[in-house]
Amino acid sequence: MESLLVYLIVLGVAVKAHKVQICPKRCVCQVLNPNLATLCDKKGLLFVPPNIDRHTVEMRLGDNFVTSIKRKDFANMTKLVDLTLSRNTIGSIAPHAFKDLENLRALHLDSNRLTRITNDTFSGMSKLHHLILNNNQLTHIQIGAFNDLTALEELDLSYNNLEGAPWVAIQRMSNLHTLNLDHNMLSYIPEGTFSGLQKLKRLDVTSNKLQKLPPDPIFQRAGVLATSGIMGPSSFALSFGGNPLRCNCELLWLRRLRREDDLETCASPQHLAGRYFWTVSEEEFLCEPPLITRHSQELRALEGQSVSLRCKARGDPDPVIHWIAPDGRLMSNSSRAAVHTDGTLDILISTVKDSGSFTCVASNPAGEAQQTVDLVIAKLPHIINNTIAEQEPDPGSSDIATVTKTGLEAGGLLSSLPPLAPY
Ligand SMILES: *[C@@H]1O[C@H](CO)[C@@H](O)[C@H](O)[C@H]1NC(C)=O
Ligand SMILES: *[C@@H]1O[C@H](CO)[C@@H](O)[C@H](O)[C@H]1NC(C)=O
Ligand SMILES: *[C@@H]1O[C@H](CO)[C@@H](O)[C@H](O)[C@H]1NC(C)=O
Ligand SMILES: *[C@@H]1O[C@H](CO)[C@@H](O)[C@H](O)[C@H]1NC(C)=O
Repeated sequence: MESLLVYLIVLGVAVKAHKVQICPKRCVCQVLNPNLATLCDKKGLLFVPPNIDRHTVEMRLGDNFVTSIKRKDFANMTKLVDLTLSRNTIGSIAPHAFKDLENLRALHLDSNRLTRITNDTFSGMSKLHHLILNNNQLTHIQIGAFNDLTALEELDLSYNNLEGAPWVAIQRMSNLHTLNLDHNMLSYIPEGTFSGLQKLKRLDVTSNKLQKLPPDPIFQRAGVLATSGIMGPSSFALSFGGNPLRCNCELLWLRRLRREDDLETCASPQHLAGRYFWTVSEEEFLCEPPLITRHSQELRALEGQSVSLRCKARGDPDPVIHWIAPDGRLMSNSSRAAVHTDGTLDILISTVKDSGSFTCVASNPAGEAQQTVDLVIAKLPHIINNTIAEQEPDPGSSDIATVTKTGLEAGGLLSSLPPLAPY
């Protein structure tokens, strides 16, 4: 009875203020000349009420028990500017569920149970300024999921389980002023991600798994990086504590920025582990040039066989290994060759033409080292008929025969690869 009374009063207010409003049961609808707000916070709702006035400008559905967003929930709500769905139990959002919200500026989805964002979740939302997704359980955001969000000013992805983010889309958000990525599992941020974000004022990457940050002119812009709060008009707040920072030459640029607080610590190299980042002197931010510790000596093989050229190096940071072919070209993965990250080069089906000196190049920011490995590929005797064993009954022949067999087995594969030397 009491609630019916409240309902009637609310309805009455709405009717008085505007032409006939539809207001979902239990919600409060306010007309604020001429905008309509539908307020349904903390109403124990299990789903988005079906009869929301489609002219609603502000829609609040926070602190309910909504578990999913359906395609029809916000259909035709072209006037909606602000949508709050915080603190529900939303685990799924139907594809294109927000598609009609062409004027939406702010979407609050924090403290829900989202695990994935797909390409079609936020498609078409080119006017969105604020996207708040913190405190979910996000593990994956599809690479194209943020492609349309070019007007974003604020993106909050903090307190999720993200190992990566759609960096290319973020790079294009030229209006972004706040980017919160803290409390995730990021181990890598590509260089150049922030270069185009000239309006960025706050970047929080606290408590991730980052060993380094990509150097970027944007960090130099202000120099003063304060987590304390007070910021001048041109200052830029960067927070990166709680990461396993590797204090070598790759982070020297960061150490050169001046700041007052000293919460960040170095996790490695070992002799700097635990030291406060800002108390380690610039001279201690050292890298070690690569040193090739092991590599294949001269290798011999019969054509058609596979050969592995090995090369190992150490240094700080870990060197990257490349191989250069005898003709000077950089080796890359192909149908005949595989370049492994551990430094091994596999030539899967060798040809006589592969003979020559291969060069293993180990490089890191501190320098480069190289070694050559000579490869000799012997031509196979022509075995058309099974006559060779009879002609050459010496002990070596069985070996050759075995090898020949391997070579011929690979021949099935060979026939599909045009650039090989004929037998
Ligand atoms: C949205 O508009 C279309 C066309 O005007 C209509 O067919 C549809 O029923 C509307 N959907 C909702 C949920 O209002
Ligand atoms: C998502 O979009 C990107 C490009 O925008 C595309 O490369 C990718 O294949 C799409 N993923 C899926 C699962 O559709
Ligand atoms: C080349 O292929 C190997 C596996 O065959 C893979 O481990 C490696 O990552 C690939 N390298 C590149 C650069 O794609
Ligand atoms: C293979 O053997 C056949 C019959 O023994 C012979 O006619 C042919 O010329 C031989 N081919 C070659 C390439 O030796």
